[in-house]
Amino acid sequence: MVERIAKGAEIELQVDKLAFGGKALSRMDGFVVFLDRAVPGQTVKARIAKKKKNYAEARVLETISQSPAYRPAVCPHFGVCGGCFWQDIAYEEQLFWKKAHIAECLEHIARAGEIETGAIIASPEVFHYRNKMEFTFSDRRWLLPEELEQDVEQQSLFGLGLHVRGLFDKVLNIDTCFLQSPDASGILREVRQWAKTSGLPAYRVRTHEGFWRFLVIREAKSTGQMLLHLITSGTPRAEATIDRLAEHLRSRFPRITTFLHSISDKKSQVALGDSSRVLFGPGYIEEKLGELRFRISAHSFFQTNTRAALELYETIARLAAFDGSEKVWDLYCGTGSIGLYIASRVKNVIGIELVEEAVRDARENCLINDIGNCTFLGGDLKNVIGKASESGRPDVVIVDPPRAGMHPKVVGSLLETLPERIIAVSCNPASLARDAALLLDAYDMGQVQPVDLFPHTPHLECVVRFDRKK
Ligand SMILES: C[S@@+](CC[C@H](N)C(=O)[O-])C[C@H]1O[C@@H](n2cnc3c(N)ncnc32)[C@H](O)[C@@H]1O
Repeated sequence: MVERIAKGAEIELQVDKLAFGGKALSRMDGFVVFLDRAVPGQTVKARIAKKKKNYAEARVLETISQSPAYRPAVCPHFGVCGGCFWQDIAYEEQLFWKKAHIAECLEHIARAGEIETGAIIASPEVFHYRNKMEFTFSDRRWLLPEELEQDVEQQSLFGLGLHVRGLFDKVLNIDTCFLQSPDASGILREVRQWAKTSGLPAYRVRTHEGFWRFLVIREAKSTGQMLLHLITSGTPRAEATIDRLAEHLRSRFPRITTFLHSISDKKSQVALGDSSRVLFGPGYIEEKLGELRFRISAHSFFQTNTRAALELYETIARLAAFDGSEKVWDLYCGTGSIGLYIASRVKNVIGIELVEEAVRDARENCLINDIGNCTFLGGDLKNVIGKASESGRPDVVIVDPPRAGMHPKVVGSLLETLPERIIAVSCNPASLARDAALLLDAYDMGQVQPVDLFPHTPHLECVVRFDRKK
């Protein structure tokens, strides 16, 4: 049977599971076939696109029998857009597989033995939950199959949207994104229409020419405030165009309380500017989490699902089980949100963060919330962690690194410092498991609590408690 799995072959497959990373997985006589888009429980007809020694990749051609876990996707862009992978899968089914993935990573990569994982905490909202989205401009947007038949004019090739699934240099025009609020989608459409007729071209990745590069829309779910961050190249005399756009949007969308323009002439496709100008507003928005208010600037990290972030922070506090006496380090602290959230339950907190703007926000957040027991240090953690040690050994360390996980030097410092408990927060189970493997020499792994911050995507947040070995 396995001989039938050759490039181009069409085969019938029973979909078994969702694999870590988002693809569906099927087996033919034990041979693994990954499917680009499928729902566990479906039987599909698929064409083999790639055959490797240990696995194959296939494209689904048709569904032969439907799965009880299938749900029709609500978004018209679903399937082409790289934003959502699992919108056609029942939410409970998504959660089931996310929980399985975290356990697989911890068991196989960290070799942590059999893991007792708490029931995954669901996101309070499954649509419109994101408070930040980044969109890319393109002078050659992705054409849908029906458009390929037509003669599309040059001007209508102007695009603003999200990357096509699996193609990070192709941009799909997005009219409505169900991950952000309807207001944010309205702003997205308006900016595209305005920019398209501005006379200035969209940036072309291949030649590094053109003007319009990225649009970042941020919104505070509790206060309703919105921050727009437009990133363009440094085309001379374009400032007047941006001024007009800012005024146009301000009059049409009163929820936009801050508009920033940044210039980036970097070749890399990242939505960051080298120099920024605030066109109107204070340059930040204010969000509330529980009783606390947070100032968030354009370049500061803030958890993208505000309501689920509250669940995440409560989970951190529950697993840390503070008694009020603890000295705590909040490493990779962003705007200080975790440290400030737990400040009233501990003796003191030292937060460390790389992005200066976020450190400024964290200090300001301390003041506006009248919190007196938190200190924030700026700089690369691997260099600054020593400075935190000067004020003595912490009892509890909370780490919340970016996707790549902790720098080995940071793990090394933790193993020298040996706090009683480490609470590891991570949005990437694989790097979490890799870091956990290093900690397991000196720590026992305790509770593992996944929290879903990213419905319809394979991404997953997880909190793990480590207790120093006696
Ligand atoms: C996943 S975010 C966590 C933020 C924060 N704990 C929260 O809940 O909002 C990771 C943070 O680590 C920061 N970061 C990345 N690399 C760093 C480094 N080398 N040293 C210190 N902070 C770093 C990022 O700027 C970002 O704010």
